[in-house]
Amino acid sequence: MTRVQEPTLSPASFERHLLHYGRDFLGELIVRAEGSYLFTEDGRAILDFSSGQMCATIGHNHPKIVEAMARAGQTVIHLDSTMLSPDVIDLAARLCDLLPQPLGKVQLLNTGGEANEAALRLAKIATGRFEIIGMAGSWHGTTTGAASATYAHGRKKYGPTMPGSLAIPSPNCYRCPIRHCVDRCDMTCLDVGFDMIDVTSVGEEAAVIVEPIQSAGGIIVPPQGYLGRLRELCDQRGILLIFDEAQTGLGRVGELFAFESEGVIPDILTLSKTLGGGLPLSAVVASDGVAETARERGFSHYTSHTSDPFTAAVGLAVVDVILGEKLTERAAVVGRYLKDRLCELQHRHEAIGDVRGRGLLLGVEIVADRTTREPGYSLIKALTERCFALGLNINRVGGPHTVWRIAPPLTISLHEVDQAIDIMDQAFKEIPPTT
Ligand SMILES: Cc1ncc(COP(=O)(O)O)c(C=O)c1O
Repeated sequence: MTRVQEPTLSPASFERHLLHYGRDFLGELIVRAEGSYLFTEDGRAILDFSSGQMCATIGHNHPKIVEAMARAGQTVIHLDSTMLSPDVIDLAARLCDLLPQPLGKVQLLNTGGEANEAALRLAKIATGRFEIIGMAGSWHGTTTGAASATYAHGRKKYGPTMPGSLAIPSPNCYRCPIRHCVDRCDMTCLDVGFDMIDVTSVGEEAAVIVEPIQSAGGIIVPPQGYLGRLRELCDQRGILLIFDEAQTGLGRVGELFAFESEGVIPDILTLSKTLGGGLPLSAVVASDGVAETARERGFSHYTSHTSDPFTAAVGLAVVDVILGEKLTERAAVVGRYLKDRLCELQHRHEAIGDVRGRGLLLGVEIVADRTTREPGYSLIKALTERCFALGLNINRVGGPHTVWRIAPPLTISLHEVDQAIDIMDQAFKEIPPTT
C-alpha cells in the first residue's frame, strides 16, 4: 500500500556539498531497496520502473548478489591487474559460452563508458583507422571516446569531440528522421546515413557503434532487417560493428542479447549495467580475430579495476540468477503482459501517442496532440511527478524527454505490474491533457 507524500528534504540540506551532475536530485532519501521496491526514510514504498539506473535487472539487493559480495569479501577483493582470480576466468568463459562465435575474448571493466572506450580502442588498433560512426539519439557514456559517439544529449559546451566522429540517423518509426515514412521504417534513413558517411568520411572508418535498441534515445526499436542491412553496409566498407548492450544485454528484452532477434553478430560487444546487477561491472567482448590483431599491434587498455575479483564474483551470481530463474523468458512473458496493459491505457488516454519496445524495455511516448504528434513536454513532466508521488518511479528519455522508459526489474510480479498501471491510470485521470 503506498501513500502520497510530499518531499521531506529541504534543498539546502543536499545542495550544500553535492555537485550537480545532471537532473535535480529527488527530495526524499532512499534508505532501503528490495526487489522491485525502493523505501524512503518515511517508509514510503516506491515501485522502481527504472531498475535503479537500469542496472538492478535481477531486483534490488538480490540475496545471491549479497552472498557473492560476502564470499568475495572473505577471499579476494582486488588484485594487481595482471593477477587473476578463478571468478574472473569463470565469468569470461561463462559469457563466451553464452555468446555466438567468434565472440571469444573478454576484458572485465567497471562502467559502460569504460567498456565502450575499450571497444573503440580495439576497433582503432585492429583496423588501423580512427573514424567512429555513431547514431543520432545514442548514449554510450561520458568518457571522451564514448561521449564522442553519443548523440542523445550532453554534447554541447565541452569543446571538440574526438576527430573522426560521424553519425547516421536513428530509425525512429514514430518520428522519421528524414520525414520520409510514417510508423513503418523502410530503412531509407540507413542508406541515406551511409551515403552521408561516404561523403563526409576521410576514408578512415574504423567502426560503427550502436545500441540494438536505443534507450536514452527514446526506446527506438529498429525495424526487422535493419541490423542485417547495417552489417552488410559495414562489411562492404571493411568497418567493424560494435553493439553496445549495456541495457539490452542479459535478458531484458526477452532474448539473452538483443542482437539475437536478427542473428546479426557484432565484431565487438559491450555489456555493462545489467552485468553487475547494481555493482560497477562491465565487459568488452571481442571476436577472436579482432582480439588477436589488437594484441599483435600492442593493444593497451589498463585500468585500476580491470579484472577485479570482487565484481567478477557478483557478475557470476548475476548470470546464474538470470539463467537459473529463467529471467529472459520471464522478461518476454511479463513484458508482453505489461505492453498489453499499456496499450489498454493508450485506448483510454489520448496523451499516449505510442507504445513500443521489446520484453521489459518498453517506451510510452506522451503527446500533447495524438494527431499532430506534438510532444507533450510539460504533460509528461507533470505525469511523471504525479506517478512518483503515488509510488511509481519512471524515467523520461528521448530527445525532448517525452518518452517514459518502462524498465522494471525482470523479477517483477504481475501484481506489481497491475499496481503500476493503476498508478499511471490515476495520474492520467488527475492531470489535465492540456497541461
Ligand atoms: C547504452 C548505454 N551504453 C553505455 C552507457 C554508459 O554507461 P556508464 O554510465 O556505466 O558509463 C549507458 C548509460 O546509460 C547506456 O545506456
